[in-house]
This record gives sequence, structure tokens and C-alpha cells, in this order.
Amino acid sequence: MTTSTAISCAGVSVFFDDFRALNKVSIDVKAGQVVALIGPNGAGKTTLLNALSGRLPQTTGRIMLGGTDISRVPVHRRAAMGLGRSFQIINIFPEMTVRENLRLGAQPHKFRFQPFWRDVSGWRDLDEKACAVAEEVELTDVLDTPAAMLSHGRQRAVELGLSLMSDPSVLLLDEPLAGVGQAEIDQTVALIERVRHGRTVLLVEHNMDVVMNISDEIIVMINGEILMRGTAAEVQADPRVREAYLGSGDRDA
Ligand SMILES: Nc1ncnc2c1ncn2[C@@H]1O[C@H](COP(=O)(O)OP(=O)(O)OP(=O)(O)O)[C@@H](O)[C@H]1O
Ligand SMILES: [Mg+2]
Repeated sequence: MTTSTAISCAGVSVFFDDFRALNKVSIDVKAGQVVALIGPNGAGKTTLLNALSGRLPQTTGRIMLGGTDISRVPVHRRAAMGLGRSFQIINIFPEMTVRENLRLGAQPHKFRFQPFWRDVSGWRDLDEKACAVAEEVELTDVLDTPAAMLSHGRQRAVELGLSLMSDPSVLLLDEPLAGVGQAEIDQTVALIERVRHGRTVLLVEHNMDVVMNISDEIIVMINGEILMRGTAAEVQADPRVREAYLGSGDRDA
């Protein structure tokens, strides 16, 4: 049985002025896989997620979502096509409740052709969706609590929930454990394990224990390029990986 590719890119380069943050990067992630993207600070991991999600326009190279070339598709359309994204720095509205945050995560395209603010059924659909997502990320008990009142772990769950509101088939998660206290790590990992079901996940993470446990495969990046790809055991055994981290003076390695 061959598994189809859920998301891939070929020859993607990104420049910031003269600085080359990504150099002809090619990766592919098969449907249903969890692939971790690791590498020292500044390796280009977030830049790659930005290129894949369309947050960085005008990248060279080709990006495919399933069988569709999305290289020229703008960020909101990629989201509507099933590409979900979470951010390294928590990207939620702290003063709003969890319910309001989740509602905002719904793709406006779904409601564009109907005046949903006047249409009760539009609101009801959105609210039902927010409740279902809250259940999935275990936030039902705090739906009407302002996000700022929640622990970092639960704010991460809100962030994850936001990305789930548009029914993504592929999730790009950028350091979903960043800022989460030790006491909440297991809970947050369990959440990721849960939402991965039926989806494909490309995950940037510095917590190596988590990376080794959660991923089917690991891609190692350094200096805007792919250094290697392999299983947890293969990555751990590769002297080039050790060298990459030791040479970088990385804070999290
Ligand atoms: N908007 C930008 N303008 C200029 N340089 C940038 C910009 N965004 C990223 N860079 C640079 O591109 C390189 C890759 O950055 P990126 O954020 O992708 O690294 P990363 O692998 O995600 O690192 P970290 O683990 O610290 O999050 C870094 O040298 C960074 O300083
Ligand atoms: Mg980053």
C-alpha cells in the first residue's frame, strides 16, 4: 500500500534582503504522519512553516498540498484548503473568552456569502463548531473565561483550537510547548497526540524527549538547509546532528 503525500515542497528558498534563510529546501510528509522539524535556533524552521502556510509570500520553489500546487495561493485560501497553523509565540486574543477566540478562528470564507452576524443559524453553526473544538482540546469548562486568565498550557490549547476551527487536514505546529510549564507538558503532548488522529502534522519542537516520542520521522535543519531525515534512533546516532547542535551554541539543545 502506498500512502499519499499530504504536504510537500521542492526547491523552496527564502531571502530576507541578501540573507538566505532557506536554501532550496525539499520535504514531503505522508498523510497521517507526524514529522518533527528540529534544528538549532535560526536554522529556518519557522521560516519553512511560514513558506508552507503562505505567510511568507513570493517564495521560490513549489509547494503542494496533496495533489494541488498551492505555491501562488494566498495564506487565507491555504487555510481554507485544509492547512492549519499554530505559532511559536502564542497568537490568541488574551482579553477575549475562549469561545470568542475560537469563533475568530473559523475561516471567514465559510460565512462570506451570508450575513452571518444577522443570520442566527450562522451564529449557531459557529458556536456549535467552537463547542466541538473546545471539547477536542479540553476547554469546555473555560469556554466563557478570558484567555488571559488561563495557564500557558491551556492558552496553548486555545491556540491549537483556533487552528482546528477550519477543519485542517494538515497541521503545522510551531513549538506548541513553548512557554508551557513542566507540570503541563504531558497534558499538552496528550492533546497533540489526540488532534493528530486523522490529520497530518509537521511539528517544530525543541523538547527532544517529546520529539523522539511523538514523531514518526524527524527532519534536521541547519543554516536553511536539510541536514538529514530519519527515525529518532537514526537522528540520535548521527554525528552530524550532534555537531550541528554543539557548533551552534543553541539554547535548547
Ligand atoms: N523577517 C525576517 N527578517 C530578517 N531575517 C529573518 C526574518 N525572519 C527570520 N529571519 C532570520 O532567518 C533565520 C531563520 O529564522 P527562523 O525564525 O526560521 O529560525 P528557527 O529555526 O525557527 O529558529 P528558532 O528555533 O529560534 O525559532 C534566522 O537567522 C533569522 O534571524
Ligand atoms: Mg522558530
